[in-house]
Amino acid sequence: MIDRKHFGKRVGAERRRLGMTQEDLAGSLSVTAQAVSKWERGESLPDPELLLALSHLFGKTVNALLEDRDPFQKMGLTGEVRDGVTILTGARDLSAYDSFVRSIRREKAVPKNWERAALPGHPLAEGGAEIAKRGGLILEIGAGPGGGFMPHVLRADPDASVVVTDLVPGVLTEWKRFLDAELGSPNLWYAACDFTALPFPDGVFDTVADGGGIANAIGDKRTALREAYRVLKSGGALFTYGLFVTSETAASLPEDVLALLRREYPDAFPDLYEAAVLAGFARIESVTSSARPTDRDDSGFAARCRELGVNVPRTAFVRVCTKR
Ligand SMILES: C[S@@+](CC[C@H](N)C(=O)[O-])C[C@H]1O[C@@H](n2cnc3c(N)ncnc32)[C@H](O)[C@@H]1O
Repeated sequence: MIDRKHFGKRVGAERRRLGMTQEDLAGSLSVTAQAVSKWERGESLPDPELLLALSHLFGKTVNALLEDRDPFQKMGLTGEVRDGVTILTGARDLSAYDSFVRSIRREKAVPKNWERAALPGHPLAEGGAEIAKRGGLILEIGAGPGGGFMPHVLRADPDASVVVTDLVPGVLTEWKRFLDAELGSPNLWYAACDFTALPFPDGVFDTVADGGGIANAIGDKRTALREAYRVLKSGGALFTYGLFVTSETAASLPEDVLALLRREYPDAFPDLYEAAVLAGFARIESVTSSARPTDRDDSGFAARCRELGVNVPRTAFVRVCTKR
């Protein structure tokens, strides 16, 4: 079946790529600007002659303009599709995360985080814009309720091609429902998968985006970095965001407090730089956004630090790890 809205989005994206207005496109096809506007809104489809003219103008096949193509098929991946989310987690029981999904729904976390992504100074905004500029096929891992880099990528380029993934399908259902209504993009796909055992073949993505999933991984963080490396094309890059307590800060804490925090918040401590080197990345560039002191941090970690009477600043960073 042809999704007219998706067809319209593709026409709009191709027209903008050529730097044309709707009037320009209408002029070059000898139709009215209203006709072009109707195609782009998904209200009508052009006649075959005009379709062919569009295909020549855009340098795309008619099929590529009309058909919804899912990258999973091309990669030879099959999985049950539930509410538009392809399940690539095998027979794994994920019911333990049901309450996580219910809280995301109850708190309307997805629309709130989408709005938050537009606020100035968001630590992932610059990286998201950079990912959008690189183009190609983007894999967002551990998208979570914040969506990681994806909302920033889409704010920079609503036509970007992104495979949005998380271990928990319900998180993705929320994002799909929201983004279908907000953007109606034909270039977004959703798959539940574990980023420590990605189901994708080697070398298929231009960018892997990790907006804090690996730092909070369910499973081994080092394996996650190796998997990100594996699925990247050569020249592709992993954008990874995290917050960590530097070893200097850790050394300055009373021993008992440090031991307690390490036990309760193991994810707050390791800096994964060395693990990224060992995963094989040829070039690693860090942009450190800021040290976030305990009194300006609304996380559970900071609340615990306040309870314990210590100030434990965490350093926020975005790292761009390039595969040779
Ligand atoms: C704490 S959230 C934060 C990061 C998230 N990018 C955001 O912006 O909200 C971490 C997310 O990573 C997902 N996650 C954790 N371990 C995972 C794994 N091994 N595979 C896939 N997703 C994972 C969780 O389900 C959760 O949604």
